[in-house]
Amino acid sequence: MGSKDIKTDIEVLRRKIRRADYHYYVLSDPEISDKEYDLLLENLKILEKKNPELITVDSPTQRVSGGLLKGFSSIRHKVKMLSLDNTYSIQEIDAWNEKMERFLERKVSSGFMVEPKIDGVSCSLIYEKGLFILGATRGDGERGEDITANLKTIKSIPLRLEGDFPPLIEVRGEIYIEKKDFEYLNKEKANYGEPPFANPRNAASGSLKLLDSALVSRRKLKCLIHSFGRVEKHEFFSHKEFLAKVSGWGLPVDSHSKYCSSLQEAKDYCFYCQEARDSFAYEVDGMVIKIDSLILQKELGSTSKSPRWAVAYKFPAHQATTVIKRIDFGVGRTGIITPVAILEPVECAGVVIARATLHNFDEIKRLDVRQGDTVLIERAGDVIPKIIKVIFSKRNGKEKKPLIPKSCPECSGEVAREKEGDVYWYCINPDCPAQLKRSLLYFASRPAMDIEGMGQSVVEELVDRKVVKSIADIYTLTKKDFLNLPLFKDRKAAKLVEAIEKSKHRPLYRFICGLGIKHVGEKVAFILSEKFLALDDISRARENELTDIAEIGPVMASSIVSFFASSKVKKMLDKFRKSGLSLSQKKKITKETFFSGKTVVFTGEMEGLTRHQAEAMLRERGGKASSSVSSRTDFLVAGKNPGSKYDKARKIGVRILTEKDFASLI
Ligand code: IVH
Repeated sequence: MGSKDIKTDIEVLRRKIRRADYHYYVLSDPEISDKEYDLLLENLKILEKKNPELITVDSPTQRVSGGLLKGFSSIRHKVKMLSLDNTYSIQEIDAWNEKMERFLERKVSSGFMVEPKIDGVSCSLIYEKGLFILGATRGDGERGEDITANLKTIKSIPLRLEGDFPPLIEVRGEIYIEKKDFEYLNKEKANYGEPPFANPRNAASGSLKLLDSALVSRRKLKCLIHSFGRVEKHEFFSHKEFLAKVSGWGLPVDSHSKYCSSLQEAKDYCFYCQEARDSFAYEVDGMVIKIDSLILQKELGSTSKSPRWAVAYKFPAHQATTVIKRIDFGVGRTGIITPVAILEPVECAGVVIARATLHNFDEIKRLDVRQGDTVLIERAGDVIPKIIKVIFSKRNGKEKKPLIPKSCPECSGEVAREKEGDVYWYCINPDCPAQLKRSLLYFASRPAMDIEGMGQSVVEELVDRKVVKSIADIYTLTKKDFLNLPLFKDRKAAKLVEAIEKSKHRPLYRFICGLGIKHVGEKVAFILSEKFLALDDISRARENELTDIAEIGPVMASSIVSFFASSKVKKMLDKFRKSGLSLSQKKKITKETFFSGKTVVFTGEMEGLTRHQAEAMLRERGGKASSSVSSRTDFLVAGKNPGSKYDKARKIGVRILTEKDFASLI
């Protein structure tokens, strides 16, 4: 094949992929199957690999940049990125309109564009000669960060424009994550024992700050264009026309944007969307009303903070009042009892809410919440609803203070506190099924035995069907046991059996951690395994032997001793041994290495390693992981989206390592 033919083939493939991306990500109307798409991309990759001189910056293969970024460079916005003034009522919208009319000294004749105010992250995208050359965050409005590599991974952002575009245009829009993708992302995080994102906006902004574009590409970010900055050799006359034109060039715009010829129509549309806000695929925190005419927009201009020609109408917070029917109690892994308010079901912006967590008995005291109380609840994003306050004026004297349960709500076993005055109560029945479920989940979690596929639903089934009566039973499970559970097919069952088998060879400290001994986390589990080398010796250790270890205090020591004293635990450990777990290690894992005696702080997300894995590797090499940066910190390992620790480390001169540096030193 001649080079001209190859060039044509490559261009044809690229065109097909761009078209498929546009149909899938912008129009939400796929034209070809995923399989066909993958094949096109694969063929393009093969041709480009053979002919690297033909790779162009706008090729679909260039969406994910190779390698990690060191950080983001700062860029100056040529046209300042402003924010919007907020209104919260019809009166305030009217007042905004009157103010504009006073400024113009005439009525607004052009009508308005009304659009959802997407609860995402602002961005600026610059296209030069139709090519996407620079993408940035809003920052403080004057300076933002160059996040081009990350924005390139978002498939609804075209890498090149189509049609009759201006030689230079800076469009602005919102990067967001759909509610369903946000839920999935948080579930995934929970499976890995990582803290969830508080809301979709945080998820989007956290994702955009990752230093590895390969990770960003997995976050399912989307973009909608709502305004513009710099434009050369082109003029728009109305906002409506702007949206239609950029959409024609292949940029994504919100199909909910509506032209309204009068202010009344604009307000009506705001309230219509307010009612429908839960049916939107993404979080909407209000509406934006914009004067449609760009001639009027120019005449009105902006203050230093916001344009006069646009205003946000913010929806009321997702709050509601309801009555507490009763206060129930849940049971955690260690038997800890958690109070939950069972509510008179109430609709809170489209969702019926019937429960709210009360966290612990201290929270009950703080809120002075009682059965029968009328309370104000709030739902923020898709997060579990919480009780904001009791409406005391609604009390009639019949409300009942919650009593601390006399027995376990799940198994009716005995409950007790560790000591007088504690806010935490525990179910002390060692056979409590609720505790077993949580213990099993913890045993299989990442910091412990890391058994992939042993999630919540599998554990529920195993315990409810009494297939597993102790955590040690999981090593006796066969493929057949899983095939008896709903939703299990041959492959999934085989994979889980394989994952269980693999976990038998984890280091001793991971096993100790998985036992879930009260007060014993990963760090102490490691210290114990390094000191004693065998579980038998740990189980025989006396309290004073344990408190001789610097990191172990009397409460922890007593918890360890009483754990191993239990006959049930002894039986369980025997079972583990019979299943082939060695429960000992030949020698200390800690080696004399570059990191011996060094204190390291981790910040940000890492690509190849979880925080737990990185800390474990460090520990095994004689280093100490710490959670805060101080003058005693030797190194800061900065992953993607590093937090304030990064700034502090730079300020006080702590040496900063990238994940790659860390991996190679390890
Ligand atoms: S217009 C400031 N339209 O809201 C004038 N902004 O509070 C140009 N936003 O930073 C913005 N949805 O990122 C506009 N449909 C929409 C919007 C929108 C969300 C964001 C925007 C801005 C913030 C201002």
